[in-house]
Amino acid sequence: MLDVQHLKVAYGQSVVIEDMSFKVDQGEILGIIGRNGMGKTTLFRSLIGMIPSAGGKVELGEKEITHDASYKRVAKGLSFVPQGRMIFPYLTVYENLVSGSRNGSKEEDLLEVYSLFPVLQEMRNRKGGNLSGGQQQQLAIGRALMTKPSVLLLDEPTEGIQPSIIKDISRSLREIRKLKNLTIVVSEQVLSFMQDTCDRLMVIEKGSIVREDKTADVDAEAIRKMLAV
Ligand SMILES: Nc1ncnc2c1ncn2[C@@H]1O[C@H](COP(=O)(O)OP(=O)(O)O)[C@@H](O)[C@H]1O
Ligand SMILES: [Mg+2]
Repeated sequence: MLDVQHLKVAYGQSVVIEDMSFKVDQGEILGIIGRNGMGKTTLFRSLIGMIPSAGGKVELGEKEITHDASYKRVAKGLSFVPQGRMIFPYLTVYENLVSGSRNGSKEEDLLEVYSLFPVLQEMRNRKGGNLSGGQQQQLAIGRALMTKPSVLLLDEPTEGIQPSIIKDISRSLREIRKLKNLTIVVSEQVLSFMQDTCDRLMVIEKGSIVREDKTADVDAEAIRKMLAV
């Protein structure tokens, strides 16, 4: 569903991702785990088209998107939940959600998001900025779903969120995948959420994938050591 081939990403002369390749199947949840500064956000920003790629190729469901602007990638089925959530604090929950929708069938999409995250329906008239961190994260995911994506990218969705809500987020991601056969790529610095959520895990170090396992086969001790260095 998503095919990244020899991707290179740089900020000016500073190369962060040298040569990265991976594939994600339809309906698969892939985790990318790595410490601060290893290139997770850079990878996602490049995939959604916020940073131009300096080399390589990206295909979304067989269609090349390597040089597309962000809005075109979204129209082709890619959606992004950025690190830090980036909801609109002065807009209501409802307005935040609708800001994410493309033309047509808004109402139906909205009801689907409300059924996944009932708290958003309860709070639909509150300002986004008045929600808790966990509720804001649910809002950011809901907003991303309003574009009816086939591939959802989430950058460190559990950052600054309390453990009980982290469990909820994990559960809702798996539920969305089941409902929609959605493909999900999610990044994190901590292992436990990823073990609960993902089918497959890759470890990123200095812009390279250094390890890859099915979640069931993951050597948690070895990965924790890599993350602790
Ligand atoms: N806007 C930028 N300009 C130059 N270098 C950057 C920029 N953003 C991030 N970097 C560098 O790219 C590397 C990867 O950062 P980032 O992708 O944010 O990592 P992560 O998300 O894994 O914490 C780091 O060395 C960081 O300093
Ligand atoms: Mg980051």
